[in-house]
Amino acid sequence: MHVKKIIFHPKVLPSVVICDPELTVGMPKIITIGTGMDAFAHCLEAFSSPHYHPMSQGIALEGMRLVKEYLPRAVADPGDLEARAHMMSAAMMGATGFQKGLGAIHALSHPIGAVYNTHHGMTNAVVMPACLELNRPAIEGVIGEAAEYLGIKGGFDGFFDYVLKLRSDLNVPDKLREMGVGDNRIAELTEMALNDPSCGGNPVELNAENVEALFRACI
Ligand SMILES: [Fe+2]
Repeated sequence: MHVKKIIFHPKVLPSVVICDPELTVGMPKIITIGTGMDAFAHCLEAFSSPHYHPMSQGIALEGMRLVKEYLPRAVADPGDLEARAHMMSAAMMGATGFQKGLGAIHALSHPIGAVYNTHHGMTNAVVMPACLELNRPAIEGVIGEAAEYLGIKGGFDGFFDYVLKLRSDLNVPDKLREMGVGDNRIAELTEMALNDPSCGGNPVELNAENVEALFRACI
């Protein structure tokens, strides 16, 4: 069985990182979309995590703003270096921000990717609305504040509609079945998701019941 593991250790951190947006110009469109949505998922989940980390909170919020402003531009014009540079920053900010925690999006996405070999960021984008809905009671207020900063009207509902529109504008599949995920391994996926360390940062406590319901809603 394939399993995706998250490994953290100070010694695996790079001592030098080269972030040159020109290196991303030739990426296939689907990778530009998938990695961009992964950056957004990192920022969103870090921002929504209940753990205390004000620095990550700010970084994650600004990371979401950069994705909102520049991902559609980078997708529409792969040679837009300004958009590519900001997306590269957003990607780094997502990975910095998620020191505060990840959540259900990644807890679902890791086993789906391991079992069905789907693209990680694209998978996150597919499961994002259902995870937002599950977490709504815990994050309605903070997402409302984020929406205001992002120039989105309507609080949580406005943010939710923005995510749906971003997905459809970028041709992200609506359901996992469009990526080849069947509903015959939900019990196994649920067990794997509950063992994923990303669970710990989800604003609503994850259990077998709500995780299984999430898979059913997303497939
Ligand atoms: Fe990710």
